[in-house]
Amino acid sequence: MLKGMLHLHSTLAIVLLLALVIAIVITLINFAGNKPYNRKIALIGLISAHLQLVVGLILYFTSNRGFANLSGETMGDSVSRLYTVEHPIAMILSIVLITIGYSKSKKIADSKQANKTVLIFYILGLILALSRIPYATWSILN
Ligand code: HEM
Ligand code: HEM
Repeated sequence: MLKGMLHLHSTLAIVLLLALVIAIVITLINFAGNKPYNRKIALIGLISAHLQLVVGLILYFTSNRGFANLSGETMGDSVSRLYTVEHPIAMILSIVLITIGYSKSKKIADSKQANKTVLIFYILGLILALSRIPYATWSILN
């Protein structure tokens, strides 16, 4: 079960990063060309992010690298601190940013403004997510 979840989390990470990059590129093209806001493309990023949140939360409470590992000692070890503290906090914040961007844009009638809002929030969310991926220990890269 844990292994399956870890696999799913690892695969969804790639799906989410790709979805965000694609949404950002298409929205940038629409923004630059004064074209209508494409909500469907932003929605793919939002759904990937919310799915990853649910799987991440399950991992956090089942893996021994998550909540179970939370202690004073964890803070002194950079790998433990990344998994137990920095990764979950940064990723939740990143997903909150993506959700705010999507929700705000949905309510904006002006295309230019809607494109701009998604761009700002999705780019910030992507940078934050990229900053706290455990690259050194990620099963796919090692
Ligand atoms: C811990 C679990 C989750 C939380 C806290 C959460 C929270 C939210 C929030 C706050 C919104 C924004 C509502 C708005 O202002 O438009 C939202 C929208 C949405 N969520 Fe989630 N979500 C979760 C899980 C999921 C899952 C598992 C899926 C599906 C795979 C999902 C799909 C969506 C979709 C499609 C929307 C946008 C609907 C729309 O307005 O077009 N969420 N969610
Ligand atoms: C933007 C969203 C996220 C991305 C891109 C992401 C990405 C990753 C990646 C690449 C790994 C390494 C997997 C491996 O070694 O195979 C990982 C592990 C982990 N993630 Fe996330 N994650 C996200 C959100 C979250 C959230 C919201 C939580 C918890 C609240 C979470 C909790 C964990 C935990 C506990 C592990 C370690 C599991 C273990 O090795 O036993 N993640 N994540």
